[in-house]
Amino acid sequence: MRIVVALSGTVCLALIGLGADLARGSEGQIGNGSTVVFTAPKSTVNLNDPKVIRAGGRIFAQTCAYCHGYQGTGGRGPRLKGRKGLTTDYLYVTISNGRVIGAQSMPPWKYSFSPHKIWELVAYVRSLAAKHNAPSQ
Ligand code: HEC
Repeated sequence: MRIVVALSGTVCLALIGLGADLARGSEGQIGNGSTVVFTAPKSTVNLNDPKVIRAGGRIFAQTCAYCHGYQGTGGRGPRLKGRKGLTTDYLYVTISNGRVIGAQSMPPWKYSFSPHKIWELVAYVRSLAAKHNAPSQ
């Protein structure tokens, strides 16, 4: 009897763990012990909803614009406006983990923002990427 209880407990824990993984996407630890997001979780927002895009835009203006420009036209960070090939998965993972290539770096945002807020940012950056990179737009 005790074995059955212990076993079902383990199964339950495994299922809870699996549920959390689906909500978070896949994560893992790298050599220095920090957690890295490998794939985006299932989106919690409608990426085309103007309200979601506006919410992402507000976070972007406060947190991202000083490096990427208010219209995403670039600065210390690369231009995001009018960019092709920025997939939602790539955006989610890159914004979560941050990026370092040579001397250029972006801090990870997964400690500052919930997955939901990161999805709002993804929606906004997608909307920027879909625009033409003309100064008037
Ligand atoms: C301190 C400056 C800085 C801030 C603040 C910043 N970024 Fe970045 N970001 C960078 C730099 C620099 C890179 C390029 C890093 C690299 O290529 O290694 C980058 C890269 C990116 C990329 C990948 C672009 C590509 O060409 O692949 C995305 C997407 C992005 N940032 C989104 C954001 C969002 C969203 C925020 C706000 C939550 C943000 N960044 C805040 C500096 C910043």
